[in-house]
Amino acid sequence: MTDLFDPFEANGLTLQNRIALSPLTRTRADMAGKVGELQATYYAQRASAGLLITEATAVAPVGRGGAYCPGLWSDNQIEGWKQVTDAVHARGGLIFSQLWHAGRLSHSSLDLDGKPPVAPTAMKQPGQMFVESGFAEYEEARTLDLAEIPTIVDQFRQAAVRAKAAGFDGVELHAAHSYLIDAFLRDMTNQRTDAYGGSIENRARLLVETLEAIIAVWGGARTAIRLAPIGHAYNAWDSDPEPLFTHVVEQLNRLGVGWLDMVEGDTGISREAEPSFDTGKLRRLFKGVLIGNNLYDRDLAISARDAGRVDMVAFGRAFIGNPDLVERLRANAQIVDAPRQAYYGGGARGYTDFPTLAEERAAS
Ligand SMILES: Cc1cc2nc3c(=O)[nH]c(=O)nc-3n(C[C@H](O)[C@H](O)[C@H](O)COP(=O)(O)O)c2cc1C
Repeated sequence: MTDLFDPFEANGLTLQNRIALSPLTRTRADMAGKVGELQATYYAQRASAGLLITEATAVAPVGRGGAYCPGLWSDNQIEGWKQVTDAVHARGGLIFSQLWHAGRLSHSSLDLDGKPPVAPTAMKQPGQMFVESGFAEYEEARTLDLAEIPTIVDQFRQAAVRAKAAGFDGVELHAAHSYLIDAFLRDMTNQRTDAYGGSIENRARLLVETLEAIIAVWGGARTAIRLAPIGHAYNAWDSDPEPLFTHVVEQLNRLGVGWLDMVEGDTGISREAEPSFDTGKLRRLFKGVLIGNNLYDRDLAISARDAGRVDMVAFGRAFIGNPDLVERLRANAQIVDAPRQAYYGGGARGYTDFPTLAEERAAS
């Protein structure tokens, strides 16, 4: 019998089960980066997961990777998140805030002063992104000055303080998908020659300093991190990810990070990717709670858990159309495949209007 659906004690928390809501950007905040009643309903509907991880939440206006993404860069964003955490706690759930800086994958129209996005090394992402006026070409991001790096670390620290004031149970550092922290890690996006570029230790320095700042607020037990070691979202690329991410996980252990949310493979696309290595090595190395993610279904989740390969499984897309995903998986019931048009924007439609199994049965 699998223990996927059983309560689980970890890092001083009692989780209802070993299933997590993977962070999902749904772009339904306002342009001031505020959430409210709508998001409170959405997260509360999914509160039967052992752990909810919020959508990426920007630590600075130009840390947003698109329009209508929420933030925790300002005190006036705390109240809306408090509504969310209260609603989740009222249903017996636990919720971490995913803290995010999009780096080059942002846009000057999202910055309050209209300044271009920032990156380890000046670079322009090919393609377009979603801004308030519609789709726009990515812009050339400017290289962060050495003297500006402490400001970035402090933005994460301040957002961590606000997450605490908003009643979250912990925070997750978004260090995947070629956003700022991940872009510093990888040699394709980081060509710096100062203390934050070159060697693996240098490229991981911003990640380590940011975690230290967050842990000073939350303690390691309530600090999580998301990594996608062999993922290529937004062209993320490193010529040799194995020693890089081995070093990163060694640092997580040294700092006492409680949770590693690891995307296994290429996010949303495949469980394999090149250059490949056995990411099971990272799982075995990490001393905290390992949350596995990426293209899991019921059978894979149960077998991964039964084999002890993960402590928890995070589901992303399956949670969009199935607020009661945990109950559906437990009962081996039908999983609704939400249409892609529902993913981003659109208010309550395609967001809070997916019924639970019980509601579906009552209606038929
Ligand atoms: C609509 C959508 C939004 C996403 N937003 C985020 C996000 O804000 N932060 C993040 O780390 N990953 C994000 N992801 C990636 C998911 O968390 C997850 O890693 C991915 O969907 C693979 O898991 P799945 O196969 O269970 O969906 C997003 C994915 C989708 C489809």
